[in-house]
Amino acid sequence: MYNVRNVTEDLYWVGANDHRLALFENAYPIPRGVSYNSYLLLDEKTALFDTVDWSACRQLLENMEHVLAGRPLDYLIINHLEPDHAGSIEEILLRWPKVVVISNEKAFMLMRQFGFHVDDHEIIQVAEGDTFSFGKHTVTFVFAPMVHWPEVMVTFDITNGVLFSADAFGTFGALDGKLFADEVNFDRDWLDDARRYLTNIVGKYGPHIQLLLKKAGAILDQIKYICPLHGPVWRKDLKYFIQKYDTWSRYEPEEKGVLVAYASMYGNTESVAQALAARLCDKGMTNVAIYDVSSTDVSQLISESFKYSHMVLASVTYNLGMYPSMHNFLMHMKALNVQNRTVAVIENGSWAVKSGDLMQKFLSEEMKNMNVLNERVSIASSLGSDKETELATLANAILTSMQ
Ligand code: FEO
Repeated sequence: MYNVRNVTEDLYWVGANDHRLALFENAYPIPRGVSYNSYLLLDEKTALFDTVDWSACRQLLENMEHVLAGRPLDYLIINHLEPDHAGSIEEILLRWPKVVVISNEKAFMLMRQFGFHVDDHEIIQVAEGDTFSFGKHTVTFVFAPMVHWPEVMVTFDITNGVLFSADAFGTFGALDGKLFADEVNFDRDWLDDARRYLTNIVGKYGPHIQLLLKKAGAILDQIKYICPLHGPVWRKDLKYFIQKYDTWSRYEPEEKGVLVAYASMYGNTESVAQALAARLCDKGMTNVAIYDVSSTDVSQLISESFKYSHMVLASVTYNLGMYPSMHNFLMHMKALNVQNRTVAVIENGSWAVKSGDLMQKFLSEEMKNMNVLNERVSIASSLGSDKETELATLANAILTSMQ
């Protein structure tokens, strides 16, 4: 059964929702599912903007057949070649052999690498700034390399202000009937997944997102709709989400607050983390979020590290090193370019206390612009009342650094 929604009068969302996939890219948990967005324009010519994951191809085909209602598919525009969007290209080419594929040189190279027989069909290779008309609608192509792959481009419909933004402005989460961001409580229900999506998938490429935002900024007043490849379409309050992307891609914190991430084997390191959190809250800083790095998916920790201005990393010493899940969190932060944060360190160890120095060294030498506070709470096995002064001093140091 078809399942389509109008974006504008002649543009249709013909994508699909996926609640069966557990791990996006086989890496990131998506308990709320994900949508693969594909858009079909009915102009004098018909044009499909990107396809969907192979697992959702059947839904895409039913949607297209319904909207086309017997018309041929004239053009297929490919903005991004990652298989969650490109997985159905070959099926589209088989069903509509006369379709003309529009994309760029790098994308065509990737299509050949993935084994899509695109050279059996007519193709149009576009360059940055080229325009193309489907009749009433004229689009222009804007390259957005590394947002998220090198071939990525976005397509802007000059006629009605629709921006097909590829992965940019996407989020995890299935649409489940809704289409527009103003049909959901985005701030309450979607923002965390939007941040988790962006920071984990494209977090490393902040400067590239900034370049795209600069290009978009030049035509901001002309953009009326943002149609990403995942998650809701934006037609109201576009600046709200653009601002979020700007903050995240500049590695600036979204909120003044403290992420407390602890690695604890028997609860003693957790006790210190909880005690510090209580003292912070007692002194008025209640925007504190605590996570156990062993039981929290690292994608969530990454998202929170982009959100808060401050971090407390508390780790037990393990085999004279950092606890593995804390080390893993630090490695992910480094890989995703997390920077410009103030960090406090808490360490524990029973027969040797090493984790504090190791975390401090990693933060200072392996990461960029991390301000590690000199104050530290160091415990041997368990938190005793003799540590009250150290705890208070660390809480005060964190609060002072926030001023
Ligand atoms: Fe949603 Fe980079 O693909």
